[in-house]
Amino acid sequence: MTKKLTTHLPEGNSEDVILNPSPSEHFQVLLARRFSRRELLHGSLRAAFAGFVASAGLKGVGVATAFAGPAGMVAPLEAATREVAREGRDLQLGFEPVPIYNGDGIRVARGYTARPFLPAGTPICGDYPPYLEGGQNSGAHQECQVGHHHDGMHFFPLGEGEEANEHGLLCLNHEYVDVRKLHPHGPTIEDGVRSVPDEVRKEVAAHGVSVVEIRRDGGGEWGVVRGRYNRRITAATPVEIRGPVRGSELVQTLYSPEGIRARGTLNNCAHGVTPWNTYLTCEENWAFYFANGGDAPREHSRYGVPANTSRYGWATVQEVDEYARFDASRKGGGPRDDYRNEPNTMGWIVEIDPFDPESTPVKRTTLGRFGHEGCVAAPAVEGRPLTLYMGDDATNEYIYKFVTRDPWTPQSRGELLDHGVLYAARFHDDGSGEWLALDVEDPAFRSAARQAGVQFRDQADVLVNTRLAADTVGATPMDRAEWGAIHPVTGEVFFTLTNNTQRGDTVPVDAANPRPRSAFGHIVRWREAGDRHESLRFRWDIFVLAGPPEDSEIRAAPGAPALDETNMFASPDGLWIDHQGTMWIEMDMGTSQQVREFERFGNNALLAADPVTGDIRRFLVGCRGQEVTGCIATPDNRTLFINLQHPGEGSEENPILTSHWPDGGNARPRSAVVVITRDDGGVVGS
Ligand code: FEO
Ligand code: CA
Ligand code: CA
Ligand code: CA
Repeated sequence: MTKKLTTHLPEGNSEDVILNPSPSEHFQVLLARRFSRRELLHGSLRAAFAGFVASAGLKGVGVATAFAGPAGMVAPLEAATREVAREGRDLQLGFEPVPIYNGDGIRVARGYTARPFLPAGTPICGDYPPYLEGGQNSGAHQECQVGHHHDGMHFFPLGEGEEANEHGLLCLNHEYVDVRKLHPHGPTIEDGVRSVPDEVRKEVAAHGVSVVEIRRDGGGEWGVVRGRYNRRITAATPVEIRGPVRGSELVQTLYSPEGIRARGTLNNCAHGVTPWNTYLTCEENWAFYFANGGDAPREHSRYGVPANTSRYGWATVQEVDEYARFDASRKGGGPRDDYRNEPNTMGWIVEIDPFDPESTPVKRTTLGRFGHEGCVAAPAVEGRPLTLYMGDDATNEYIYKFVTRDPWTPQSRGELLDHGVLYAARFHDDGSGEWLALDVEDPAFRSAARQAGVQFRDQADVLVNTRLAADTVGATPMDRAEWGAIHPVTGEVFFTLTNNTQRGDTVPVDAANPRPRSAFGHIVRWREAGDRHESLRFRWDIFVLAGPPEDSEIRAAPGAPALDETNMFASPDGLWIDHQGTMWIEMDMGTSQQVREFERFGNNALLAADPVTGDIRRFLVGCRGQEVTGCIATPDNRTLFINLQHPGEGSEENPILTSHWPDGGNARPRSAVVVITRDDGGVVGS
């Protein structure tokens, strides 16, 4: 007898439960010593970047092969960069740092302007229903409006030359909702059940992705174009399943008995972009939207699908199939008769073609199923496979990469992603690393699974159970991997590790995750053997240990200085290297964190860094209760778009909202894009 399903209303999005029960044996034995080979990296890379910028400029150059060596050979960074002339360009950043701030506006560097744009509820399609204050819009309205909780974002230019800097498609993710602010009086719940289906319709529609055509007018203001591209993809939009999991018994449902289709995308966190100009949206904390009645196969339990209490209680709306599918309990019969497999249709990378508004989004299952944060494609090189890097943002989970089976060519499209090998990363204590195949055809994987006593029926089973597969091969549990970025010149890969307050409890510290109960997070970087992203070996070190002056270290900078008042930050999350080589670091200290030792950091901020020299400066501070996310610029780097997500998080009208951004007055706060330009029209950050 299953228990009655009920409703859970989370404060934020962090469902930071530990679900990794079997941390790698290999890393259990690593010593907790601090890693100190920083001198290996910083000097030579600074020379490489300076030389490259001076001689070539960054834009439009085939930088992926700049330092290519023989495949499979581990090239020390010094050797790889020695030939590059040192031009002595130490300082790339050209603005004065912004002080710490805790007010309810935006503080940006002097000489810049930051304007809110596309706040949640902005009409973009259909009948263009206007946004109504106080949660008055209906579910049908929301289906035609920008969603809530903006996150990952990309700008796809339309047109050539200068037009490409003034006109394009903005794709942005909507990670989750705050039901207390979404409806006039919060959600209606009777005896644990969501009794007003239109509220659920609105919540489902406020998730997903917005595709918005935007254009800059003569006065420099960006606006919405009411064009044919504008589109909402929600947690209910029909999608197709591709790759090895297509047709698997593990994704057969009442909705798609063949296991080839599903509905919607959930908790869309960060994103990626393919070389063929499609958008990848990443499903992160999706497990908690379901309830399985206590019947928990491994493909539920390793991801934390709850028994009876689903997030927002969508699973309690039994009379509407659209929402009843979140009830993943067994109803008798087989998987085609109920929604026991519905959770297996989430946790994927989803490809969306923003240039074809009629296209069906595709779940590319080769890229694995976990708490996907983002998906960073390495520069495509003709004749070589394409590599994409991904993090699983949950405590003690892993970093992954996917390498396509077939080489990339200018004719390649999404099908390229349907064949290839998924790998999990192991970071060795000595600064080396390796990629471990999660592939039933791979002898080492089969042997590891046999030794661990874990059985996988086929590759679909491996992919649906990606976390278990990575446990099996002994990947390195990380301090919650968030976004990644790839340096266009050096090919170095950077990943933020936001924090892990459990580190050292069940999983020991190791060289790549060196701080026990790490509250402030760090950024790791690595370089693939032979400067080929498909290599199975790499060298790594730590770029920066975030935190206050007494507990931080910029390991990339000469002398490894601590952070100070001008650049101290915590909980790095968003990360992007722009078209000029500036690395943008976005903070996401949870609201519950922004007290005690975190109060001194002020509101979450956007920092600019020189990824070569380790120069870091605070560029912008957002309003109260938000996190900074989504970072992309126009091709000329003169307009930077970011998102401020969940302003006023954790506060309500009764007793008091901590933020009214961006509308001001007494308005409810809402997530929005921020458009940042330099007042003299120059390149942002330089
Ligand atoms: Fe959605 Fe890990 O942030
Ligand atoms: Ca967040
Ligand atoms: Ca994030
Ligand atoms: Ca985060």
